[in-house]
Amino acid sequence: MTAPTVPSGRPGGPEDPDGVHGTDGADGPGRALPGGPGPGRDSAGLIRAEEAVLAPNYHPLPVVVARAEGAWVEDVEGRRYLDLLAGYSALNFGHRHPVLVEAAHRQLDRLTLTSRAFHNDRLAGFAERLAALTGQEAVLPMNTGAEAVESAVKVARKWAYDVKGVPDGQATIVVAADNFHGRTTTVVGFSTDETARAGFGPFAPGFRIVPYNDLPALEAAVDATTAAVLLEPVQGEAGVIVPDDGYLSGVREITRRAGCLFVADEIQSGLGRTGSTLAVDLEEVTPDLVLLGKALGGGIVPVSAVVGRRDVLGVLGPGTHGSTFGGNPLAAAVGTAVVGLLETGEYQRRAAELGIVLRDGLAPLVGRGVLGFRTRGLWAGVDVDPALGTGREVGERLLAEGVLVKDTHGSTIRVAPPLTITEDQLRGALAALERVLSAG
Ligand SMILES: Cc1ncc(COP(=O)(O)O)c(C=O)c1O
Repeated sequence: MTAPTVPSGRPGGPEDPDGVHGTDGADGPGRALPGGPGPGRDSAGLIRAEEAVLAPNYHPLPVVVARAEGAWVEDVEGRRYLDLLAGYSALNFGHRHPVLVEAAHRQLDRLTLTSRAFHNDRLAGFAERLAALTGQEAVLPMNTGAEAVESAVKVARKWAYDVKGVPDGQATIVVAADNFHGRTTTVVGFSTDETARAGFGPFAPGFRIVPYNDLPALEAAVDATTAAVLLEPVQGEAGVIVPDDGYLSGVREITRRAGCLFVADEIQSGLGRTGSTLAVDLEEVTPDLVLLGKALGGGIVPVSAVVGRRDVLGVLGPGTHGSTFGGNPLAAAVGTAVVGLLETGEYQRRAAELGIVLRDGLAPLVGRGVLGFRTRGLWAGVDVDPALGTGREVGERLLAEGVLVKDTHGSTIRVAPPLTITEDQLRGALAALERVLSAG
């Protein structure tokens, strides 16, 4: 085993064994990056400028990223950081994966947008291969995750009225407490997170909330009006909450018995993160609809999709649903390249193998700054002892150590590195976490 590579957050140091970020060339510190900030726009200046002009709906860590490759990002001053957030899993394949960048470049030179008013020569191949990869039959392409969720809500309701025979206007959808499915008004309407909800009503009716990981509660909530059960196979934003073994197959069984749809939101858990293509694969469960997003766009363009049964997606007729950008040829080209990477099985395998390194690296920290943690594949929610500070404060200390993470819910930090991260890089990041916790 070679020594862990520990990023330092300093420019030009030996922490970049791949030599991917030269700092003494034309792009080095003190010189303007092509298309980058102008004179006087250092990190602090850019943060002040953002705060002056942007809606204040985020509280980013104080780092201004200018370039990235693989698991590394580099800030305006040329400091390097290991990215352990990976765009909330949109960067499962790392920053600027050469295969994905090449696919995007090739498509940019040919055709970028047609709208679905016309056909394009990229969409069929993308949909065929995505359906085959996920073991499903049909694809509804959209752009963002929240749009995929909204689309599934529409499809499930229409299916309930047209196929199941639910009286008009009475369809219900059962969701889990502590869910995160996006930010639209319908979706925050069935959130249990007051910060996400408060002040945005009135909300759409028709949702029933049950505790996550509680099959009897779910069974009690479904009835003749239920169109679908919608939930995350692993609750990402809630802190990487992994349900008990048997929960997902139990959900499948209950929904089958109740004659309603099982909609799995795999927008964060899907596409390799958990060590399998989909998190539901780990229990050999096939939902009726699967929602994909984030990594489907390779970290290049927003691409989402509802994939599922043909007879279910088939309830949508022309004019009932759509999106100007959904299924555009650039998205389809990048999405096809993403599917191509996943078809090799390499990224799923890496997530499973590196997930063991992650789990084994976190285990000794329990009782030494960590109260507990949960992992699934290369994905962890780590509950830091609140005595050491909030998750945000731990994130700031890790930033100083050259590691980027994001806190969620108080003292939990989530770790979701690109699946391309090397074992040494991961061990280096874990060593940084250990240092931060022991210094706290
Ligand atoms: C499970 C899940 N569903 C939906 C979304 C919403 O995706 P987007 O931000 O692309 O709308 C997210 C985003 O974090 C998510 O984690």
